Amino acid sequence: MLNNKVVIITGAANGIGKEAVKGFANQGAKVALIDLDMAALEKVAQEFNLQKGNYLLLPADVTIEEQVEQYVQKTKDTFGKIDVFFNNAGVEGVISLITEYPAKALDSIVNVNIKGIFYGLKHVLRLMAEQKSGSIINTSSIGGLRGMPCTSAYCASKYAIIGLTKCAALEFAGSGVRVNAICPAMVNTRMMRSIEAGMNSDDPDAAKDQYTNMIPVGRYAEPDDIIQSVLFLASEKASFITGAVLAVDGGLTA
Ligand SMILES: NC(=O)c1ccc[n+]([C@@H]2O[C@H](COP(=O)([O-])OP(=O)(O)OC[C@H]3O[C@@H](n4cnc5c(N)ncnc54)[C@H](O)[C@@H]3O)[C@@H](O)[C@H]2O)c1
Repeated sequence: MLNNKVVIITGAANGIGKEAVKGFANQGAKVALIDLDMAALEKVAQEFNLQKGNYLLLPADVTIEEQVEQYVQKTKDTFGKIDVFFNNAGVEGVISLITEYPAKALDSIVNVNIKGIFYGLKHVLRLMAEQKSGSIINTSSIGGLRGMPCTSAYCASKYAIIGLTKCAALEFAGSGVRVNAICPAMVNTRMMRSIEAGMNSDDPDAAKDQYTNMIPVGRYAEPDDIIQSVLFLASEKASFITGAVLAVDGGLTA
């Protein structure tokens, strides 16, 4: 159980991050929810009936370092410590050949998926190193393990997250802090609906069928499939696991 553990979750308003809020709260953790929009965070708190004193809603843009520093500090000031950091917010960018890829979309991917993850690591690691304990889980992707056509910038950013994970794990392994990455295959969230539409705007369901056919277990993941591995990596059961890159992919990269 993660009773009274303090957990920061980025990208908490939707999809995988939102499911993490439920998973950690159900295990008795105190949760700090980070996302762009306060109204969306309030909806999550309401939906899961989070109890006063057990959660914080902290709107922040992870691409702005000062805002990252603030959400980390506010969580520490409120709950006194940070045990787990689910460094998860990400964007898919556009679906396009490299030759057509808009520079603006590339910037957005770099800002959210690389800089946002980096700033989170930088500020959470400082506190965890002082505490001499903590578990960080970065969300990479199967796009961090293999190429996928028309998602070059996204894949590049997800490979970067694996590099960051391994460096951070090595830098802080002697300080009682663990840093791991998860690599989900396609998960049933808004992000996949957007990618499917980008791959085949006339028939997004056909794109979904094509992706499903790539997955040996024969289906997309549900957010809970992903969160079970996050809860494990966050827990003491994973105390000897750091610098690991865990494919949660129904066999796609096997
Ligand atoms: N859905 C999939 O198939 C899949 C597969 C592999 C990896 N992932 C990764 O999982 C993570 C979550 O994806 P999801 O499917 O839940 O997507 P999603 O779009 O449903 O949720 C992402 C959340 O991140 C938030 N976010 C985006 N930019 C932000 C910023 N600058 N600051 C703060 N919050 C921001 C969004 O507002 C949103 O609530 C992402 O890193 C994604 O790349 C998703």
